[in-house]
Amino acid sequence: MTGYAHKLLLGGKGQPVTMTALTNNETRPVLRTAYQKSIAAYWNAERDPVNMRLGAVDGLYHHHYGIGDVDPSVWEGPEKTRDERVIVELHRLESAQSEYLLDHLDGVTPEDRLLDAGSGRGGTSFMANKKFGCQVDGVTISSTQVEFANNQAADRRVADKVKFHYRNMLDTGFESGSMRAIWTNETTMYVDLFEAFKEFSRLLKFGGRYVCITGCYNDLTGGRSKAVIQIDERYTCNVHARSEYFRALAANNLVPINVVDLTAATIPYWELRAKSTVATGVESAFLTAYREGSFHYLLIAADRT
Ligand SMILES: C[S@@+](CC[C@H](N)C(=O)[O-])C[C@H]1O[C@@H](n2cnc3c(N)ncnc32)[C@H](O)[C@@H]1O
Repeated sequence: MTGYAHKLLLGGKGQPVTMTALTNNETRPVLRTAYQKSIAAYWNAERDPVNMRLGAVDGLYHHHYGIGDVDPSVWEGPEKTRDERVIVELHRLESAQSEYLLDHLDGVTPEDRLLDAGSGRGGTSFMANKKFGCQVDGVTISSTQVEFANNQAADRRVADKVKFHYRNMLDTGFESGSMRAIWTNETTMYVDLFEAFKEFSRLLKFGGRYVCITGCYNDLTGGRSKAVIQIDERYTCNVHARSEYFRALAANNLVPINVVDLTAATIPYWELRAKSTVATGVESAFLTAYREGSFHYLLIAADRT
C-alpha cells in the first residue's frame, strides 16, 4: 500500500471503524520525536480566535501573519462595528501575505503539482489552486488540521485537486521530481533546515521553485534576543539564524533568486493586532524583536538546480 496505511477495525458496536495508522509508509512513523509529538499536540488543540475568527471572514483559514499598510478607515465609523472591521482588515493582510508568496511561484501551469509543506488549515493551498488551477498537496503533522482542511476542500468542491495529508515534511513519501514548486509559509522554524531542504530538493523537478516566508533571527545581533526566545517559547518552535537558511539551501542545490526583507511590511499588521480583541499576548515580543533588529521577516525564493 502506498501512502499512509488504513486498517479496518471493529468498533464498540461491531461496526467497522476506519483508523488512520501513524505511518506515511509501511515502516516509518509520521511523528518521529518527542518534539514533533508536542508540535502535533499543539496544533491539534489550537482553536485560537486570531485564526478562527479571521478565517471565518471568507473561509480561508491561515496560521501566519500579515503584510501591507493598514487601511486607516478601520478606526472610523461606528464603535459598535469596529471590532468586526479590525478582524476583516487583519484577515485582508494575512491573505495579502499568501498572495505575495504565491506571486513568487514562477510559471506554474494547470498541469503542475505543488506542495504546501506545513499546510495548517489550508488557506494558502486553496488560494494557489484558485490562482493556478493545478493540483496542490498539503502536508501537516496535525491530524485535526488535515481533517479540517479536507472538509474545506470538499465544501469548496476542489477535493479532486487540493488534498491534505497527515505526513511529515521531512519525509513526505511523495515521488522524487514530482513537484513543480514547494512553499513553506511560517513552518521552517519547526524543522531542521538541512533535513527539510534535502527532502524539498528531492521532490522538486529540475528548475522547480521553492518559496519560504519565515521569521529568522539576525546573525549580526549575536544569537537569540530575549524577544526571539519569547517567540520560541510561545510556539514551542526554534527560530533559525538568517545565515542558516542560505547554508541549508546551498547544501541542497537550491539557489536563491529573490530575497525580500518583509520586516517593515509586517509591522503594521502587528500594531493593529496588538490593539485588537484577538491579541494573544505575543504581539509585544514580535514588535520588540522587529524594531530592535534582532528578528527579520523574510521571503526567500530559490530554484532547484
Ligand atoms: C504556523 S503554522 C503555518 C500553517 C500554514 N503554512 C499557514 O500559513 O497557514 C505551522 C504548520 O507547520 C506544521 N508542521 C510543523 N512541523 C511539521 C512537520 N515536521 N511536517 C509537516 N508539518 C509540520 C504544523 O502542523 C502547522 O500546520
